[in-house]
Amino acid sequence: MSLRPPTDPTHPTETPDLPGSALPDSLTVALPKGRLSEQTLAWFRHSGIPLPAADGSTGDDRRLILASEDGALRYVMAKPSDVPIYVEYGAADVGICGLDILREGGRHVYEPLLLPFGHCRLSLAGPADLLDVPLRYDSQPRVATKFPRLTEEFFRTRGINAEIITLHGSVELGPLVGLADLIVDLVDSGNTLRENGLVELRVILRSQAVLIANRASYRLKSLAVCRLIESLRNAIEQSEQTSS
Ligand code: PRP
Repeated sequence: MSLRPPTDPTHPTETPDLPGSALPDSLTVALPKGRLSEQTLAWFRHSGIPLPAADGSTGDDRRLILASEDGALRYVMAKPSDVPIYVEYGAADVGICGLDILREGGRHVYEPLLLPFGHCRLSLAGPADLLDVPLRYDSQPRVATKFPRLTEEFFRTRGINAEIITLHGSVELGPLVGLADLIVDLVDSGNTLRENGLVELRVILRSQAVLIANRASYRLKSLAVCRLIESLRNAIEQSEQTSS
């Protein structure tokens, strides 16, 4: 279960006055669009980290680069799987992504802080009648996935010659239409598997959100990067103490 940042119902967007929360160097932060975005911004707000300034319009904001309210941060809005790429190449100093995507991409970045949300697991799944069937080296399964690298590694380390079919979404369709015998996909509530008659067979990786940092930025902008990390770490620790 995800830890939620505490909210003050009377001042839901108020940022606390954390000592030293002003960030001296300008940092570029890669934010993932989609599932992790809302909780990332909630934790940033709770940590006193300046948020992207609103554009004043009432419609969907389609801008891809947003400055923070105080100008200290520049946010780039990226596809989640691209966040580690922006950070590895230094186009962003830090970023937020899931461990699943980070491990799949194999990018060379620092991972200084796990974040208390985005929990899910990368699992092997398939039709319910495979539940008690052992994985055999001679079974040569066809496996559909959005995570070909982790899937290939999972089967290779077990000596199983799997055929990996890379899809870009709705992976659960694979076994239903005869495209694949098995799937490797993210499981959160388990509803998508259940509603499509599939069961979880093995957990391959437990995932959650993680803050990643460019290796050079971690040294050259260490004060700003470390303050950002410390602000988040303090907020997470406070929240853990409150909820325990
Ligand atoms: C993810 C994942 C599963 C589903 C799991 O898909 O790939 O399909 O969520 O969530 P659940 O266990 O809570 O049902 P997403 O919604 O990101 O869409 P996609 O499959 O089109 O990528």
